[in-house]
Amino acid sequence: METAELATLIKTRRSIRLFQDKPVPEAILLEAVETAIWAPNGGNAQNWRFFIIRDKKIIKNVADAIQADMKTMMSWPEMANAGPPASRPGSPPRVDPLSTAPALIVVAAIRSPNPMVDAMAKRAKTDPKARQMFEGLQVVAGWAQSTSAAVATLMLVLHQKGLGTLWMTGGLHAKADIEKLLKIPVGMDVVTLVPVGYPAESPIKDRKPVSEVCQIIK
Ligand SMILES: Cc1cc2nc3c(=O)[nH]c(=O)nc-3n(C[C@H](O)[C@H](O)[C@H](O)COP(=O)(O)O)c2cc1C
Repeated sequence: METAELATLIKTRRSIRLFQDKPVPEAILLEAVETAIWAPNGGNAQNWRFFIIRDKKIIKNVADAIQADMKTMMSWPEMANAGPPASRPGSPPRVDPLSTAPALIVVAAIRSPNPMVDAMAKRAKTDPKARQMFEGLQVVAGWAQSTSAAVATLMLVLHQKGLGTLWMTGGLHAKADIEKLLKIPVGMDVVTLVPVGYPAESPIKDRKPVSEVCQIIK
């Protein structure tokens, strides 16, 4: 593959929030996951799990759980100006991406214990240097970085196959309900929802110039 071809593939992927009413073959979704699991991941522990859902009733149940929790959340006075813009009173109605998605890939992470972090947390209580190191380790969140690498790869592969996807964490206030609904095994955390389908929209997005986001340190 030429570099330009790869760049085009990466740059033409857009987040899709509206899908055609056309099923996505299971084989395509499985093939995409099979490729995505070659993403880099912490210690090659492969602590990720993918749940493929093609039953629209189950997808609707997930969407309903998210909406129900959103409603509860938005009834709290603290949320008056703090919720996502689409949820605020007076904002234009927005079509829920899950309402048209014919498929949904739920990505979960298995959180394995990290003895080094646990030991560091203990020492950080009294030792400022250990506290600094502990704070550094907090941003690592290897489980989150590994699943993110897989999600990005998954989305790119599906895009190459003509499918649209959305990286969705917005509904994770309903994480507990979603996990219960989908019977996600204990010890796993749902980290990302990826609705998948043939796009019914062609959104345009821009990026800041590379000079604004990248610096060469000499
Ligand atoms: C961690 C993460 C969480 C996201 N969560 C949502 C979400 O909940 N709902 C949504 O509509 N888009 C979500 N997005 C998509 C971003 O809004 C989108 O990637 C960004 O606007 C750039 O647009 P593009 O993907 O079309 O280039 C998320 C993206 C990332 C990486």
